[in-house]
Amino acid sequence: MAGIAFSGKRFLLTTFGCQMNQADAQRIRGILSEIGFVETQKETEADLILFNTCSVREHAEQRLISRVQALTALKRKRGNLLVGIAGCMAQNHQSSLFSMTPLVDLVFGPNDLESLPELLQNASRGQTAGKFLQKGSFNGEEADGIILERPFSAFVNIIRGCTNFCSYCIVPSVRGPEVSRPPEEILKFVDALARRDVVEVTLLGQNVNAYGRDLGLEEGFVSLLESLQKLEKLRWIRFLTSHPRDFTFPAIDRISRLSKVCEQFHLPVQAGSDRILGLMNRGYDRSGYLKLVAQFRSAIPLATISTDIICGFPSETETEFEETLQLVREVRFESAYMYYFSPRPGTRAAGLLGQLPEETRKHRLARLIETQNQIAWEESQKLVGKTLEVLVERTSDRTPGHLLGKTRAGRTVDFAGQNTFSGSIQKVRIDRARSWTLSGTLLDTLPVYHLNNPREA
Ligand code: SAM
Ligand code: SF4
Ligand code: F3S
Repeated sequence: MAGIAFSGKRFLLTTFGCQMNQADAQRIRGILSEIGFVETQKETEADLILFNTCSVREHAEQRLISRVQALTALKRKRGNLLVGIAGCMAQNHQSSLFSMTPLVDLVFGPNDLESLPELLQNASRGQTAGKFLQKGSFNGEEADGIILERPFSAFVNIIRGCTNFCSYCIVPSVRGPEVSRPPEEILKFVDALARRDVVEVTLLGQNVNAYGRDLGLEEGFVSLLESLQKLEKLRWIRFLTSHPRDFTFPAIDRISRLSKVCEQFHLPVQAGSDRILGLMNRGYDRSGYLKLVAQFRSAIPLATISTDIICGFPSETETEFEETLQLVREVRFESAYMYYFSPRPGTRAAGLLGQLPEETRKHRLARLIETQNQIAWEESQKLVGKTLEVLVERTSDRTPGHLLGKTRAGRTVDFAGQNTFSGSIQKVRIDRARSWTLSGTLLDTLPVYHLNNPREA
């Protein structure tokens, strides 16, 4: 019935935040298509404008409110236009979003995607509609119920929520407690994706290393990777995010034997000072983190390591900040997501003494970025002359006749080639490197798998 109600209507979906939201976007697209919607990229022709939002920092929330308010004129002009807020901000502010942004018709949290048809029915009858379940589940997440942005690459949620309560972080309160998806369901899901030519999956969780604990599994995450390795048509497996506290040495050893696991490991360190790490409630210290990095590099020589860092945490001294800079120089991260501390109401860190002025936080961030950028550039130069496997993603908007693809380490590579290669894995020689993007020459036009990979299982 809902399908008839919305048949031919158009939706515009904009996703902010992390890959968890991108995975939810795959499901939102699937649900909207099941009830008759088609996607548009144009605001002016949309019947439904949906924002899939992030709450992790205050700025992200402020920008979203401005984006919604900018729709006032359009909404006045097109009386039937529906505007919705999904994702973490919806869960964080719930019904109060209706008064914060009065033109919004529906608001629903990340654990309520399946309610979307019902909410849309209510909203289209002129009622404001909201839903905010606290705990996540995997009901309704079937492979044929998601629509992928790129047909050969999928995000796969394996664990929802977070129970870590890092003192600065709002995620546990908006995404609810950890809930793992049973391994047999994940295998069935990924197998179905691989059968429809998905070559790459990125397994998602706020702490993938905690996968399976709530199901009573031990080292459930690595066992899951080992099972996925056996799926014949699947080529590449990535995962995010690993919590340094929970990655064990035996787990790294077992992963080192899995040829399909890409050599890209995101290990958020957050800070280089033991006192700050303690205040953050991260559960590891500087030396434990450095040992973990060393273990990765010795078990997997091609491993590239990226990280997240927060600077200007409450009471962080100049010397403690320099410990973070020193750690960055020591580890030489391939890349880093760097932020200055943003106090989130309701978190422990927001109430700590010694909050630093924004100017200090911003200034430290600028110094951190400068340090890391130089390292990233130097590390990139080491790739020049190497031949890498590249999963071809799309044509370049900037250079006609060029393609963009991604290496196993997650680097973007630009090279000349035909669009028909999209979704295939090719050999590319790297000719030039900037801090993040690489340019190269296509060496072979045949499907190539696991080239130069010493870790064949
Ligand atoms: N689960 C992941 C982990 O434990 O590293 C991170 C998920 S969080 C959504 C992404 C990143 O946002 C964090 O690693 C942290 O660096 C940053 N972040 C979270 N809360 C923040 C805050 N209040 N201020 C600044 N950055 C923050
Ligand atoms: Fe936030 Fe920590 Fe959970 Fe990551 S592990 S989502 S930083 S509380
Ligand atoms: Fe943001 Fe929610 Fe992810 S707060 S970073 S979208 S889990």
